[in-house]
Amino acid sequence: MRKQVIAGNWKMNKTHREAEDFIQTVKNEVPSAEQVESVVCAPFPFLQKLVEETEGTSVEIGAQNMHFEESGAFTGEVSPVMLKELGVSYVVLGHSERREIFKETDEDVNKKAHAAFKHDLTPIVCVGESLEQREADQTMDVVEAQVKKALEGLTEDQIKQVIIAYEPIWAIGTGRTATSEQANEVCTHIRKVVADFASADAAEAVRIQYGGSVKPANVDELLSQSDIDGALVGGASLEADSFLKLVEAGKHE
Ligand code: 13P
Repeated sequence: MRKQVIAGNWKMNKTHREAEDFIQTVKNEVPSAEQVESVVCAPFPFLQKLVEETEGTSVEIGAQNMHFEESGAFTGEVSPVMLKELGVSYVVLGHSERREIFKETDEDVNKKAHAAFKHDLTPIVCVGESLEQREADQTMDVVEAQVKKALEGLTEDQIKQVIIAYEPIWAIGTGRTATSEQANEVCTHIRKVVADFASADAAEAVRIQYGGSVKPANVDELLSQSDIDGALVGGASLEADSFLKLVEAGKHE
């Protein structure tokens, strides 16, 4: 039985004060870590404080990106060593906004996945098709290529620990959620890709989240699907009440 993992991706939102208020409200209210994994992926300036405040609670803190190098002349970047030093446990890699706006490639995502494991960070690897690709019936091929490249060179053990987030780009921030059948169809395909690429055991173990306009009103239906093991949530993760409803839904699966 795979444990559900519910991760909030705050993107570039909140002030320090708002981050503080949020964490004070949720940190002792989330279900136990045995029941569901509750993760908050916050902007870099808030990470240290959030890690400190959630110590001893069931909330885990994640970053939204990182560089794959440990140090060097990469102005404006943050390294995996720095994240680890702060006590961060997860890192979102290859979010579609990073791919589209900041031109991250599948190869970058793969290097970052290796760097994450080297520094004991759990990678949440995002994949997903554009509307144009979906309409051209390329969804499965696009997602398959992204998954294979992201996992290249990882050991079977590492692949078991990866979290893959399927986020159709057309459903992100649009209010247009994929139907649970559409979402599950792709997640099932991803699991098959992992089985062929690594092993049946790895496919059974790997957690696959759905992301794209997830909210308390649709989360139960999405999480009830056979191959959906959690959610990566933007907008609906920003309010404490809503985030708590989402992790509560993860608990029941
Ligand atoms: P929304 O939940 O706001 O659609 O964002 C999804 C997302 O991009 C999470 O990473």
